[in-house]
Amino acid sequence: MAEKKLLYTAEQIADRVAELGDQIKKDYEKVLAPGEQLLAIGVLNGAFIFMADLIRAIELPVEVDFIRLSSYQDKDSSSSEVVMTKNLEKEIKGRHVLIVEDIADCGLTLNWLLEFLHKRQPASLKVAVAVDKKARRETSVSLDYVAFSVDDGFLVGYGLDFAEKYRNLSAIHQVVTQG
Ligand code: IMP
Ligand code: MG
Repeated sequence: MAEKKLLYTAEQIADRVAELGDQIKKDYEKVLAPGEQLLAIGVLNGAFIFMADLIRAIELPVEVDFIRLSSYQDKDSSSSEVVMTKNLEKEIKGRHVLIVEDIADCGLTLNWLLEFLHKRQPASLKVAVAVDKKARRETSVSLDYVAFSVDDGFLVGYGLDFAEKYRNLSAIHQVVTQG
């Protein structure tokens, strides 16, 4: 078991998610037409826990869809590529769309997704992340709702994994690497 340092407790996460939910409600109640639902798009796998908490903190009608993306490192070019392994199932044209992602790191995944969704002409497109990790950002991405900001480090828990482990931890921890 890797050594880890506690960064945000389950209580701290719940408080921040509640604040984001209030903010999102205030912002979208102005733009949604009567009877219209916000469409939250969760990025699998990492975002599923944040997604489940966030949508319940938004006191508005919310519809959900999921997309699954992986970014993989190209050994030859040292660049990363984003691959979609599960597409959306809903039509997003004309919809108010909120992307829900676990963490923004280099920014590659979110940029890919923003471009992919923009082409489908949503009425609006915003991004919510549980963690904004700034140090390795390669392309600027605008993050509309951020629960926590950190500089760097590898985080686990609350949906975030390290080699498919630790997703089910309730708190967010930083993996401590000895060297
Ligand atoms: P990006 O394309 O570099 O922004 O990376 C995005 C993806 O990498 C996230 O959706 C996560 O799945 C994964 N990732 C980046 N940093 C971490 C971390 O600290 N812990 C766990 N997963 C991470
Ligand atoms: Mg992810």
